[in-house]
Amino acid sequence: MDTLVSLCKRRGFIFQSSEIYGGTGSCWDYGPLGVELKQSIKRIWWRDYVQKRSDMVGLDASIIMHPTVWKASGHVDNFTDPMVDCLECRRRFRADKVDEMPWTHYCAATKGNKFTIPAGEPCTHCGERRALCPECGKGSLTAPRQFNLMFKTFMGPVEEDAALTYLRPETAQGIFVNFENVAQSMRRKLPFGIAQIGKAFRNEITPGNFIFRTREFEQMEIEFFVNPRETVEGKPADEYWHERWIADSLAWFRRYGLREENLRLREHEKDELAHYAKRTADVEYQFPIGWSELMGIANRTDFDLKQHAQYSGKALTYFDEERKEHVVPYVIEPSAGVDRALLAFLADAYQEEEVRGEKRVVLGFHPELAPIKVAVLPLLKKRDDIVRTAHAIRDTLSTHWSVVYDDTAAIGRLYRRQDEVGTPYCVTVDVQTVGDSDKGESADGKVTIRDRDSMEQARVPIAALPTVFLDLLGGGSWSAVASRYPTAKA
Ligand code: GAP
Repeated sequence: MDTLVSLCKRRGFIFQSSEIYGGTGSCWDYGPLGVELKQSIKRIWWRDYVQKRSDMVGLDASIIMHPTVWKASGHVDNFTDPMVDCLECRRRFRADKVDEMPWTHYCAATKGNKFTIPAGEPCTHCGERRALCPECGKGSLTAPRQFNLMFKTFMGPVEEDAALTYLRPETAQGIFVNFENVAQSMRRKLPFGIAQIGKAFRNEITPGNFIFRTREFEQMEIEFFVNPRETVEGKPADEYWHERWIADSLAWFRRYGLREENLRLREHEKDELAHYAKRTADVEYQFPIGWSELMGIANRTDFDLKQHAQYSGKALTYFDEERKEHVVPYVIEPSAGVDRALLAFLADAYQEEEVRGEKRVVLGFHPELAPIKVAVLPLLKKRDDIVRTAHAIRDTLSTHWSVVYDDTAAIGRLYRRQDEVGTPYCVTVDVQTVGDSDKGESADGKVTIRDRDSMEQARVPIAALPTVFLDLLGGGSWSAVASRYPTAKA
């Protein structure tokens, strides 16, 4: 994780928020390359799940909603974690996580020496187990109290209870309260889904592990509405669609590069199910901190629509033409965190290898995810014609993709820099491209394209670059495309 955090800062992916003021607890800012990577994740998710599917539409609901939404959804009463406070250092911990932390111990058997003891283990000198604050090792902890994770805020100029509302802790509720609006305006028939990408806020007691658990994060959520009276392939529609969405979600992460061995599915035990769920399966990823939740796929039944119908007094039903009856749809909810997806793609892409006796760091991103798709590099920055040609190529290609021009180092170092940020292709403009009138050498109008993964190179006419990259960045393999052109010496 430390390697990733340091790479992210050094290469402009992610910075600590408000760093010049000492940073804000577990808030992070996405830098120039981070924002491109994040946009790529959101763009392909939206394209695959909304644009390409005829049974899905999109939504962008507001973050601040009517406060009754959170009463109806159960968040005011149930969205809590048990927390304990240290009476000495005042630090706060999740009661159910205290024993998962290494703990500080002043050992009486060794004249009060201070030790840091691994989580859950006793002191090897005195045999004692943790009883006090794991951080300071001195204070007693209070009895557990329930702590609501929603951020409170006030609407309007007066800070009074009547103006109290919340920053949304999930984007889902914006979809539920708009169910009727969307179904009516878009004339939707079940089954259909509403997708949304947006910020969510949770006052997590123990945030941390870089962007894995933060207080402000982004979600990509789908609420997929099905008719509970129907059966599909012999199964109740909600159970059938739940299985489909679990399989689809795993396949999506694999398609964009997450390794099979780093992904697994975990069923929620009955006692850990959220208050609204009939069944939930998590897609877990082997993060640098160990196996942890990447996304959840829940069967929320008709809980939310029924709750909102009860609290708002509006009927949130669907008229089943075939059975001539009103039904409350069931909901399957694939819910992924953008920031967690980004961390997983980053961790999976990171590779260190040795090339000709030197260490090469590569982010082997899927081309669709790479923050920079093509880097255009001049071999000699003192030659105006080379520089001009390189700029012109960048300008042409950048109408389609994110393309950079860089002349701030020698070519070998420029390649390494692009490898380190995951740029799949580099284009190098050299003397042959533009010719050398002093030596009587005419221009060949060709450039060298270098493939990040194989480090192979091919010599391609400038005019062919848009088609070549359309092919390569649209899923074509390097070997197939490169075979159409002469190999260039690496
Ligand atoms: N609407 C359902 C829902 O919000 P969740 O499991 O609480 O379910 C869904 O959250 C996803 O949102 C998680 O799988 C995770 O990827 C992301 N997420 C949740 N809390 C997060 C946090 N504090 N920081 C970063 N991502 C978070």
